[in-house]
Amino acid sequence: MKKKVALIFGVTGQDGAYLSKLLLRKKYKVYGVKRRSSIINTLRIDDIYKDINLKSNFVLRYGDLTDSSSILNLIKDIRPSEIYNLAAQSHVSVSFEVPEYSADVNGLGTLRILEAIKNLKMEKKVKFYQAGTSEMFGRTKEKFQSEKTSFYPASPYGASKSFAHSITINYREAYGIFACNGILFNHESPVRGETFVTQKIIQALIRIKKGEQKKLYLGNLYSKRDWGHAADYVYAMWKMLQQKKPDDYVIATGKNFTIKEFVNKAAKKIGFKIKWSGKGISEKGVNIENGKVLIECKKRYFRPVEVDHLKGNARKAKRILNWSPKISVDDLIEEMIDHELKIYNDKYPK
Ligand code: NAP
Ligand code: GDD
Repeated sequence: MKKKVALIFGVTGQDGAYLSKLLLRKKYKVYGVKRRSSIINTLRIDDIYKDINLKSNFVLRYGDLTDSSSILNLIKDIRPSEIYNLAAQSHVSVSFEVPEYSADVNGLGTLRILEAIKNLKMEKKVKFYQAGTSEMFGRTKEKFQSEKTSFYPASPYGASKSFAHSITINYREAYGIFACNGILFNHESPVRGETFVTQKIIQALIRIKKGEQKKLYLGNLYSKRDWGHAADYVYAMWKMLQQKKPDDYVIATGKNFTIKEFVNKAAKKIGFKIKWSGKGISEKGVNIENGKVLIECKKRYFRPVEVDHLKGNARKAKRILNWSPKISVDDLIEEMIDHELKIYNDKYPK
């Protein structure tokens, strides 16, 4: 059988790292697109080179979603059987600061890949995955969000991803491209970026426990997120491209928690007992053991408008892809904490 060849945009990100390892284990040849950076940006995938079974099928190439010529040349040269577009300016809060750039990368970047597929006449030769997001539901009032829920994006990030979602459907219908949108709810892992709230909370609480940091500053403690594990979610991406027909799928756990509940869960596992007091920006979390303030709120971590409530209905993915999440939020937190403690202990051996 012909070897499957995957091209991953965004290979250096959290999902890019999990997906490339999954595909390499499935014996794909994997080409990953990285951006030129002034400091090494391949930390999440460097371990691939330590595994002789994986490294021979892994190739990194330079490219950028803002550069049509690089996208076209990569696809022309590699002629992949599957393309995964995971590249994005993926931080919601940052998208308010760099709205035009976020729209360019996340929205037009997706269009550039689809145009390259069309112009190279590869419509029937390549399958395409677009990394959509629950942020497209934004300020929806629906209790559970499914593929049928209308989009109401609440940030330049959410709006740019809504465009990417629509244009992916448009190219599927207009040109017959096998193109799928995953609508993925928040998913985390030990290699989650440090400025997303889960990793920020865990890293800060461990540093506080070790006496390296005094306080953790957060924004809105009451938004609710449906958190899964990246390992489960990249498996769903792959499953979507293995179906007979292209389609769009919500990927979620169906459970959600507030940021405060996440803090309480992580704090308990790290060994803190927290007492909360105050309201709004004045709310504080105090370490019951010594009376010291552990957590405070800061205005700059609040967003101009918030997505209050995300909770996904992934029944379609269960029915058609036979997909369901395997890792609970508690196991996810435990894994993130263990990973962080290992890094700390390796840095400061006893
Ligand atoms: P991430 O860790 O932020 O990774 C984003 C990747 O995109 C990185 O490899 C980054 O490169 C790359 N990138 C950024 N701008 C680029 C550009 N102009 N050209 C080429 N590459 C560029 O994000 P993630 O958590 O893995 O998420 C993967 C995708 O799923 C993203 O599209 C995200 O929006 C979407 N998504 C994520 C979640 C989630 O909860 N994680 C949920 C729904 C959807 P550098 O490493 O050089 O920065
Ligand atoms: N980042 C961050 N930092 N978020 C905070 C903080 C803080 O100090 N304090 C409170 N929050 C709240 C945010 O206001 C938001 O409601 C929630 O924590 C989650 O924020 P993030 O972890 O930054 O994730 P996100 O939900 O905005 O976006 C992530 O998930 C999306 C899927 O729903 C990103 O991975 C997106 O790329 C992804 O599409």
